[in-house]
Amino acid sequence: MSIIDLCKDRIKAFPKDMLAAMEHIRPAVVHEKAHVYPISVPEKWSDVDETIIDWSITVDKPLRLYVHIPWCRSKCIFCFYESEAGEPKESDVQNYIECLKHELSIYCLRLGVERLTAETLYIGGGTPSILSPAQIESLLQAIHSFVEFKNEAFLITESSPGTLSSEKVQAFVDGGINRISIGIQSFQDHILKICGRDHDADQAVNAYEMVRAAGVPEINFDLMLALPEQSHDDFEKTVMRALELAPSSLSFLDLRVASGSKLHEMGYYYPTWHEDILMRAIYQHLLKGDSRYERTRPHYYVRSDEARERSTRVPCLDSRSGLGFQAGLGVTAYSHIGDVCFINSRNPFYSDRLKAGELAVQRGLTLTEEDKMAMKAIRAIVDYTLVPDAPAVLSRYKKEVQFLLENGLIDNEFRLTDDGCLFGEEVAYMFYPDLTVTESTSYDKGILHAYSKQDRMG
Ligand SMILES: C[S@@+](CC[C@H](N)C(=O)[O-])C[C@H]1O[C@@H](n2cnc3c(N)ncnc32)[C@H](O)[C@@H]1O
Ligand code: SF4
Repeated sequence: MSIIDLCKDRIKAFPKDMLAAMEHIRPAVVHEKAHVYPISVPEKWSDVDETIIDWSITVDKPLRLYVHIPWCRSKCIFCFYESEAGEPKESDVQNYIECLKHELSIYCLRLGVERLTAETLYIGGGTPSILSPAQIESLLQAIHSFVEFKNEAFLITESSPGTLSSEKVQAFVDGGINRISIGIQSFQDHILKICGRDHDADQAVNAYEMVRAAGVPEINFDLMLALPEQSHDDFEKTVMRALELAPSSLSFLDLRVASGSKLHEMGYYYPTWHEDILMRAIYQHLLKGDSRYERTRPHYYVRSDEARERSTRVPCLDSRSGLGFQAGLGVTAYSHIGDVCFINSRNPFYSDRLKAGELAVQRGLTLTEEDKMAMKAIRAIVDYTLVPDAPAVLSRYKKEVQFLLENGLIDNEFRLTDDGCLFGEEVAYMFYPDLTVTESTSYDKGILHAYSKQDRMG
C-alpha cells in the first residue's frame, strides 16, 4: 500500500465529530500560527507608543533578540512578511544598520545597562542573506557591540537558497552565527516557480552543501505544505529529498493566507483543509520511520544525533515568572517586555522615531492574567518539554482536556499524541480566552463563530 493510501486510511478512522471540530477551527488559524497568541489576534492590539512599556521589569533569564531584515530579491506570492523586493541600495542598508544601533542603545539606556545579555539572536526577514558579505559583517559587528551572548547562545539566521554564497556563509560564521535556516519550501521546480521563488531545487541543494561545507553546526530546512498546485505526491517527494539530505532540523509550515490576500484570485488550485491534513500525515509518517529524527514540537523535527534544540520562534514567556523578555529590532519586529507586547512600525516612521531617541513602537497590548494563562497553556501544549509544570497548567482547562483525551489527541500526561500533533495549531487555538472566529477565507467559507467560549468552557 502506498504511503498516501496508508495516511488516507488513518484519517478516515478518526472520529467524525473530532475532525469536524478541528475543521471548524481552521478559519481561525489560517492567517497566523495559532501558537503565537496574542500576535495571532490583531483585533486585540491598538495604537500605542513607548510609554506602554514598564522598564522596571526584572526577569530571571537573558534576553531573546530578533532582528528583522526587510529586503528580498523578489516577493513570493504567498508571503506577507515585511520586505521590499529587489537588491537594497548600499546607503539604505547602512542607514538601516544605524537605526538598529540606535534601537539597541535605547534598550540599554532604558534597562540601565551598558550592554545587553542575550541567549538567542534570530536574524529573520525578509531575507538576511540578501546582504553582501561586508554588510553581514557590519550588521553582526553592530549587534556584538551592544550585546553579549551567553556561551550556549543560539545565533541564528534565516536565508534563501537564491541569495546564499560561500562568502556570505563565511561572513555569518565569522560573526558567530551557529545555525542557518534555509527556506527550501519545496524540491519541486514547478511549485517553486508558481510561488515566485528565485531558485530551483538544484540551487537549494547547492546552498545546503555550501552551508555544510562551511561547518555551520546546525542547518534547518523550512518546508511548506498546502502550497498552490501542490499534490500529495509532490509533497511526499519533497520530504523524501529532505530526508536524503538530512539537515539538523526540519520545520513544516502550513501555508497561511494573510487576511485580504489576493492569493485565491490567481487561478491556482489550493489544497483543502482535508488535503492539508493528509500532507501533515505524510510528513509525520516519513519522519516517524526515520530513526535519526525526533519530534520536539508538532511540526518540528530535530536530528537527535546533532541538534541542540530550544524554542526559537515561539514568543518568549518565561514559564516561571510568566513574563516575557524578547526585543524585536527593525521594522515590524515583535517585542515582549514583561507584560507588554508590541510591534514596531514600518519606515519612514521607524527611522524617524529612532533618530528622535525613541523606540518606534506602533501597536501593542498589555497582557491580562487570562492572556498570560492562555499563552502558558498554548506553550505547554506545543512546547511541552519547555514548560516544567505543563500538566498543572493544562489541567485548568477541564473541558478542552476532556475533549483531547477522549479523542486520543493527548495522553494521560497531557502530551500531544501523534494524532494530536497532526492538529497542533488547531489544538493550540482551543486554549484561546476568546474563541470567536470573526473571519473566514475564500476557500473555507461560512464557518463563523465555530467554537464559542460558552459552548466549550461551560
Ligand atoms: C520570512 S521567511 C525567511 C526565509 C527566506 N526569506 C526564504 O523565504 O527563503 C521564513 C519562512 O516563512 C515561511 N513563510 C513565508 N510565507 C508564509 C506563509 N504565507 N505561510 C506559511 N509560511 C510562510 C517560509 O517557509 C519561509 O522559509
Ligand atoms: S523570500 Fe522569504 S521573506 Fe522574501 S518574500 Fe519569499 S518567503 Fe517572504
